[in-house]
Amino acid sequence: MNKTIGVIFDLDGVIVDTAKYHFLAWKDLADELGFEFTETHNESLKGVSRVQSLEILLGIGNIEISEEKKQEYLLSKNEQYLEYIYKMGPDEILPGASELLDTLDELGINYVLGSASKNAPLILKQVNLFHRFSGIVDGNSVSKAKPDPEVFLIGAQKLNMQPKHCVVFEDAIAGVEAANAANMTSVGIGDKQTLNKAHFNFNDLTEIPEDFFSSVISEKILKKNEPKLY
Ligand code: BG6
Ligand code: MG
Repeated sequence: MNKTIGVIFDLDGVIVDTAKYHFLAWKDLADELGFEFTETHNESLKGVSRVQSLEILLGIGNIEISEEKKQEYLLSKNEQYLEYIYKMGPDEILPGASELLDTLDELGINYVLGSASKNAPLILKQVNLFHRFSGIVDGNSVSKAKPDPEVFLIGAQKLNMQPKHCVVFEDAIAGVEAANAANMTSVGIGDKQTLNKAHFNFNDLTEIPEDFFSSVISEKILKKNEPKLY
């Protein structure tokens, strides 16, 4: 096992394209409540917990409801989301993800999941990737949601690595902030402008150069404020 670095993957929007299902389920609720919910609005929900997502959504619609109603909506949103999840299969693994895990296996670099989702284990099982991760940190194991670094710090413990030797792959602003707050190297997957606080940016996982881990990371560019190499 390579002891130089460890890798932590976010799930939704990095390994699988479940962000679109979250969006559809939240949009249905917004429709029901009578306000417009756009993909741009959806960016602020990415990476944050289910409960916080509802609060943000209600804020966008300028809607105040009782705690009881909130619990009802959280349940119905998740039920609708799960309808999409149960239909998922390995064909919904995002391009480059399986290959990247293969590369890490070949290099002997350990990796765990660091997701805000309480559905993470189920999703990984649906796409047949559950067995590949040496640890899972999900929405059930944390008390503070991203951008708090807790999820990734627990991930580092599972990897038995110091935070500064961990590399995090994230598609959400809150996730990049969490990785940076954990003193880890952040790799933003998606729009570079949106994820401009990441140490590295790629549009998707297929863009990661073959030597990203072996040469770049192992050459200790794990320090902050280095010029971006990619
Ligand atoms: C994150 C998603 O991974 O998980 C968020 O980016 C989502 O959009 C959060 O709200 C919680 O997911 P779940 O599956 O527990 O509702
Ligand atoms: Mg994500």
